[in-house]
Amino acid sequence: MQALDYTNARILAPMVRIGTLPTRLMALEYGADLVYTPEVVDKAIAGAVRVVNEDNGTIDYLQKGVSVFRTHPSEKSKLVFQIGSANADLALEAALTVAQDVSTVDLNCGCPKRFSVHGGMGAALMEEPEKLCGILRKLVEHSGLPVTCKIRIFPDRERTIKLVKMIEATGIKALAVHCRYRDQRPRERAHWDRLKEIVEAVSIPVIANGDAWEYEHLGKLQDLSGATAVMYARRAEANVSVFRKEGLLPLNEIVTAYIRKCLETRNHHSNTKYVLMQMFVDDTKDPRYRQLCEAKCFRAVCKVFGMEGELDAWLQSQQAKGYPTDLDSVPRKAGEMANKDEATNAANTAQKHKQQDLRKRKLEQQEVEGEEKNEISAPATKKQMTEISSQQTINGDHRSSSRIAPTETSRIEEIIAEEKEVDNNLPSAGAEQGQTKEVTSLLYS
Ligand SMILES: Cc1cc2nc3c(=O)[nH]c(=O)nc-3n(C[C@H](O)[C@H](O)[C@H](O)COP(=O)(O)O)c2cc1C
Repeated sequence: MQALDYTNARILAPMVRIGTLPTRLMALEYGADLVYTPEVVDKAIAGAVRVVNEDNGTIDYLQKGVSVFRTHPSEKSKLVFQIGSANADLALEAALTVAQDVSTVDLNCGCPKRFSVHGGMGAALMEEPEKLCGILRKLVEHSGLPVTCKIRIFPDRERTIKLVKMIEATGIKALAVHCRYRDQRPRERAHWDRLKEIVEAVSIPVIANGDAWEYEHLGKLQDLSGATAVMYARRAEANVSVFRKEGLLPLNEIVTAYIRKCLETRNHHSNTKYVLMQMFVDDTKDPRYRQLCEAKCFRAVCKVFGMEGELDAWLQSQQAKGYPTDLDSVPRKAGEMANKDEATNAANTAQKHKQQDLRKRKLEQQEVEGEEKNEISAPATKKQMTEISSQQTINGDHRSSSRIAPTETSRIEEIIAEEKEVDNNLPSAGAEQGQTKEVTSLLYS
């Protein structure tokens, strides 16, 4: 299969919870050339049941009745599916599961979070280059898809170059480089000055990632390093219109467009709320932020932004077509499930699994909280972004060392509150009604 075109591409980075379908579609509408899914762990997607939703054409991949990945055919030609894996066979199974709906599969080799590295995934793979390359080779040889890989850098130049050369030799089509070390937090500046050596060491396209805040940063990073493309994460999380060549749109406009997109794609309200909260995380004094925190359903989210009228119109249109009006449900054609009864039964037990899983995640969260309380990555504040934009120069020498994130305690409280809210609002419907909550993790939250 032909590789994607990375030339001068502005790319939406993989972002757990944030990069769900509505965000990806908006990024593409605003001008993103390519979009990544959030990382999905191999076991979570391997063997999932593919279901086409009758009303809006979205496609769900269901595991035990729960949607682990939702896409739309309109994004396929620009969609990179990111896999978290430490096992070549499972990675391949995951890739083959989604192959018909994506253009490329990417292996996440940069995640430094405990959940990931304890499982041998993410940044742990960089410590085991043979294993990393084994997974890539398997994907390259058997998935039938172009394969890419996202890494961080080592402090040591030689070690980094050796690794990227090994990775290139597996036959991957592009390499995304988050130019921070494994143990560096997002608030620490990215090492733009380390990109050039990587670009010069390989002949595949290099996608520069880390502290790209502005549309123009593609050009800056290209001048600095010769990188082919640039990838935006936290900037797009805060305002996805960063991909517009005409400039950023005001947040109010983004919020309205985002909620509409969530209605169109039947995005689960808890994910909708979470993504919206990240847009406001910078301005938690905004009364709408508080109201959002308290919103327990899609209507409450709409109410915060005066969009109940649009919700009602949408509900009426769904009713008129005979589709379910539960926003957390997915209408789908009968017979498209491999075995509907089995799926329904599985969905009923999925609730139990989900609750167990959430309890486990909360315990893990509590466990890591002590050591990571100040390290949980948060989107940069607008103020930070402005500072960074004005301070980053082409050679990267004049960036401020005073870029310190505000206290993140309140954000941690929000995350925990959000998890409680998710727990309290687990959809009760089974696969027939269609659970739509994407299974995401707290890896990057
Ligand atoms: C909310 C959030 C979720 C993320 N999830 C992923 C992920 O699923 N896979 C991945 O490779 N990186 C993930 N990252 C890391 C970003 O893709 C990116 O490498 C990092 O944020 C640096 O880019 P930035 O400086 O533009 O934010 C995530 C980052 C954030 C903020």
